[in-house]
Amino acid sequence: MPVPLFDLSRLGPQVDEAVREAALRVLGHRGYVLGAEVESFENDLTAYLGGGHAVGMSSGTDAQLALLMAMGIGAGDAVISTPYTFFATAGCIHRTGAEILFCDIDPVTFMMDPESLRSLLSSLGRDSDGFLRSPRGNRVRLIVPIHLFGACCDMDGIGSVADAFGVEILEDAAQILGAKYPSKSGTKTAGIIAPTSYVSFYPSKNLGAAGDAGVALCLDGEMAENLRRVRNHGMEERYYHKVVGGNFRIDAIQAAVLRAKLPFLDGWNATRRENAAAYKQAFTDAGLLDRVTLPAEPFASSGLRDHHIFHQYVIRVTGEGKRDAVMTHLSREKIGCAIYYPVPLHLQECFAYLGHKPGDFPESEKAAKESLALPIFPGLTREEQAEVVAGITGALS
Ligand SMILES: Cc1ncc(COP(=O)(O)O)c(C=O)c1O
Repeated sequence: MPVPLFDLSRLGPQVDEAVREAALRVLGHRGYVLGAEVESFENDLTAYLGGGHAVGMSSGTDAQLALLMAMGIGAGDAVISTPYTFFATAGCIHRTGAEILFCDIDPVTFMMDPESLRSLLSSLGRDSDGFLRSPRGNRVRLIVPIHLFGACCDMDGIGSVADAFGVEILEDAAQILGAKYPSKSGTKTAGIIAPTSYVSFYPSKNLGAAGDAGVALCLDGEMAENLRRVRNHGMEERYYHKVVGGNFRIDAIQAAVLRAKLPFLDGWNATRRENAAAYKQAFTDAGLLDRVTLPAEPFASSGLRDHHIFHQYVIRVTGEGKRDAVMTHLSREKIGCAIYYPVPLHLQECFAYLGHKPGDFPESEKAAKESLALPIFPGLTREEQAEVVAGITGALS
């Protein structure tokens, strides 16, 4: 039986109806750019998050670029992130003219390892003004930890290192809308843990638009004003440009669709968790746990319902060439799977100028060789999950 990696049509007729109604409303009033639809979505989103300011953007990537521009990050600055992730984070840093500094990931969670961060920062010197400088002489301004696959990074650990070195944090919350984080100082909501962050609404995200869209989030009202300017070519008054920005505007139709889908998000996230629990049982029953490592749930014992929202269900298959063999077998059986992410960013051709080589970030490189994403979307059936697990059993026996 073929199993899709992702199938948007399974969200159901109630969602389809709500989306259609929202899109038709915008087509009816023809207010296509920004305006009341966008403001209503931004307000609903901040109410859902329980705080902060939301500024709708044309994509998650554009939201990050707008944030970096609003912070004045550029040539002469350095920004720290991890190499095992989607390209956008490092791509935006590069586009501002800032230097990218990588630190390695934690092998269990796939996300920024606070100890790697600490050793990177400890290796850097300070200039006569006390500013932390990269070996190339750029001022270290920002750390961008990336919440990958549905659980939060170790934000307490990263936060305490960042505080010790006096560097700010910008969260990449592209994949994590709806997750909670059990901080030592109380429960926090992903996306408003750090002063700034951004979310992607790419259609396959847990909350997906009908095309590209994203949002920049921030805790400070002045930053929100700044972001609104940057989103619209730096204008407040038409044709008067206070700063250089871009066209990062979200379409009204996307805002309306997202607003219609937002009330369903917690239910979808709960379904993803149920699917993850079903996989755990099925992999255990199949006796595969000696060959396959299931996704970590670092905050499962917190008691928080939304400690994980399983944006992706990423297993590790250890052993030389084993992951690729599993993938080939599943693909032959028409079972959807994907590698997130096959080439760590420090080894990408476009970043060759940074001078990295294989072995520089071993945990990121290992994750790129061993990780495999399986279907987890809401609407996936238990029969389909059994088919996935049977396919992996077939590949590994
Ligand atoms: C971790 C991460 N960061 C940034 C982005 C960029 O978001 P978008 O595709 O909306 O530009 C994505 C999207 O897949 C992502 O997964």
